[in-house]
Amino acid sequence: MTDTIPDLQLTRSCPFDPPDGAAELRERGPVSQVRLYDGSTAWLVTGHAEARALLSDPRVSSDRGRPGFPSPAPLPAMNRPTNMNATLVANDPPVHTRLRRMVIPSFTVRKINALRPRIERIVTERLDAMIAAGPPADLLAGFALPVPSTVICELLGAPYEDHEFFEEQSRRRLDADGLALQNLIKYLHELVGRKIENPGEGLLDDLVAEQLAEGHLDQAELATLGMVMLIAGHDTTSTMISLGTMLLLDNPEQLAKVRADEAAVPAAVEELLRYLTIAGMLPRQATEDIELGGVTIKAGDGVLVASAIADREQSDELDVANPMRHHLAFGFGIHQCLGQNLARAELEIAFTQLFRRIPTLRLAVPVDEVPRRPMGALSGVTELPVTW
Ligand code: HEM
Repeated sequence: MTDTIPDLQLTRSCPFDPPDGAAELRERGPVSQVRLYDGSTAWLVTGHAEARALLSDPRVSSDRGRPGFPSPAPLPAMNRPTNMNATLVANDPPVHTRLRRMVIPSFTVRKINALRPRIERIVTERLDAMIAAGPPADLLAGFALPVPSTVICELLGAPYEDHEFFEEQSRRRLDADGLALQNLIKYLHELVGRKIENPGEGLLDDLVAEQLAEGHLDQAELATLGMVMLIAGHDTTSTMISLGTMLLLDNPEQLAKVRADEAAVPAAVEELLRYLTIAGMLPRQATEDIELGGVTIKAGDGVLVASAIADREQSDELDVANPMRHHLAFGFGIHQCLGQNLARAELEIAFTQLFRRIPTLRLAVPVDEVPRRPMGALSGVTELPVTW
């Protein structure tokens, strides 16, 4: 029986699509077993309704420290025994609830709307510099990466001068030796230490004054929470800007709709988020038996929510004028992306200005020659050669 369980694939023939084998996996039903790189098995949820049900089920844990917690790919050595490296996203209630309450007020629609003029200026400055220097240009290094990096630094109160360090460490955060993660934690620890001594303006400073000083969290928790926001705040948004641009340039009829009417950009952003679902495999572990999609997931079983596959259930076509409601690009349930309002604002502003300012923008190499991130859980490119 076990030999009929297929291996989970992580290679993507197309940079815009979920990992290969999605059609076969879907044929096996909305919840089916897969074999992971280490020989263990896990449940893969590919059905959209089932994915939403599982992600909002209180009988699942996100605690990476639990024995048997699944991972689609090998994790850095230091990540395994502890969940300290991924505060919030790897915490369960009540710790998760306590931490999330501390940060959620900084990411409301109202708070993010107040940031929009600043995001507009950051985007304008980056485009000015890229246009002045080019063509050609690397859209990742010149635009897609620095925009979200600058924004999250300002929001957190982290010095943007350090961006090369934390971007590089963040790119290597899944390396087997775990060094990059250690470097990031050390960096955040020291940054928080400096803020305790010398308060400035930013979310980290607010957390020092309001939460750390009051004993609601300790310095190690604050450092890892800061690290998660710093990484999640720049890496994912940068991937969405670069892959989203590439996808639109590769689909001129869709891009024409975006260019024809700037009011259509927010809907296009939702469709790009759905189509690409870049954080496409969300790990959980059942804490009790769960009946789902015709199978019984036993307490202790690992579950991977294949949100990238589930988000293609309704359609494999990109249609920027008809975004799907309730896509899973930001996850669902208690861990649904903290930064989604910020990410939406950044994407809307970035695409609007990019296509307005450079109407003749095009890829400088064919899509399949754009250098891609090494195979693994992360989708995206390492460079985006463009010209105009
Ligand atoms: C387009 C960009 C983004 C995408 C696609 C994305 C995607 C996601 C997804 C899928 C999750 C859920 C993970 C899970 O359930 O296991 C998540 C959680 C999270 N995201 Fe994002 N994210 C983006 C931008 C951001 C930004 C800008 C921030 C800035 C702070 C951020 C911070 C977080 C945090 C802290 C969590 C954990 C929340 C929790 O566990 O309660 N993300 N994100």
